[in-house]
Amino acid sequence: MQQPSSLSIIRTKRTTDGIEPVVKRMRTQVFCIYERSRLPSVRYPALVDIDLTNRRHVEILKSDLPRRSKSDPLLFAITPGDRTSLVQARILGGSFVVSKPVQVDEIERCLARLAPADEEPEPEIPSVHHSITRTAEALETAMGALRAGKPLDIEPMSETCRAIVAAMQEVGIGRWLEGVRIHHEGTFQHCLLVAGVASAFAAAAKMNPRDTIALCLGALLHDIGKAVVPKEILDKPDKLTPVEYAIVKRHPVEAHDFLRSKSLASEAVLRLVRDHHEFLDGSGYPAGLSGDAIDGLTRCLTVCDIYSALVEERSYRPPATTREALKVLFGLARDGKIDLAAVRMLALVVDG
Ligand SMILES: [Fe+2]
Ligand SMILES: [Fe+2]
Repeated sequence: MQQPSSLSIIRTKRTTDGIEPVVKRMRTQVFCIYERSRLPSVRYPALVDIDLTNRRHVEILKSDLPRRSKSDPLLFAITPGDRTSLVQARILGGSFVVSKPVQVDEIERCLARLAPADEEPEPEIPSVHHSITRTAEALETAMGALRAGKPLDIEPMSETCRAIVAAMQEVGIGRWLEGVRIHHEGTFQHCLLVAGVASAFAAAAKMNPRDTIALCLGALLHDIGKAVVPKEILDKPDKLTPVEYAIVKRHPVEAHDFLRSKSLASEAVLRLVRDHHEFLDGSGYPAGLSGDAIDGLTRCLTVCDIYSALVEERSYRPPATTREALKVLFGLARDGKIDLAAVRMLALVVDG
């Protein structure tokens, strides 16, 4: 890959202005320009011009970017209309997005809009990317503990859920979903999505703090039993054989039994994990519970779980749109399988 021509334009302009830029060639196919600005309010602006849809390049960028202060603006060069890259740039903490081909004037306009350094600094808020990373780490810990049969400290998990709830209030469900889809796949993507959707659901339903954290924690942990399901079965694009399906259907019990014996998870969380595949008409699993035997919080998780599964990226099918997913959910509610009130609440959450 050649160095983007935009960088040489900027280099020329800046050099004639007497500001010496440093073009840093990062590892494979990742380019970035750093400049030491003479503007008193702007110290080290950086322009990043990489393929933001390439997960590996993004990972390289994240590991290569030096620690930056809030007065060091991060600019991303984006092809106009490239929504995925736009979202990714925001997640990576971009101060501004400029259009490709990059114009020096546009960069200067962006930098001029920055507040002077001596203004009151904004309070630091955790980025959605940070929250997603932290949640993924918590999930990895839980699945690792289940695989190894080791105890799981539930308090850090609850703390993570409090951070998810806060992040959701700050950025909304849309950015959470986009961020998770870009960085994760498979069971990880699914659990992170369900945790986000469940948190937004709890906020919309004005649940009390205890139920909110229980629902979010149940969502985060509901499928950790899949840690012991062979990957070939989990990733199989074709229809599962009866034997394979029976193995997959053990995951609620695997997770429940692990959490009951190896953690201090509450009864509410244990129920959520064990019963999230139960249907109101008794056709679900593992116990075939029906009606009132399925508690209200679990009904909410089931709806969030099915919605998330439908809108996820899968290798063998495109993700459903919000409208398509809601249509499926209302159909299941009409058939008496899931809670209609919970579906209506979810529709408010995801449909704005
Ligand atoms: Fe599940
Ligand atoms: Fe699930």
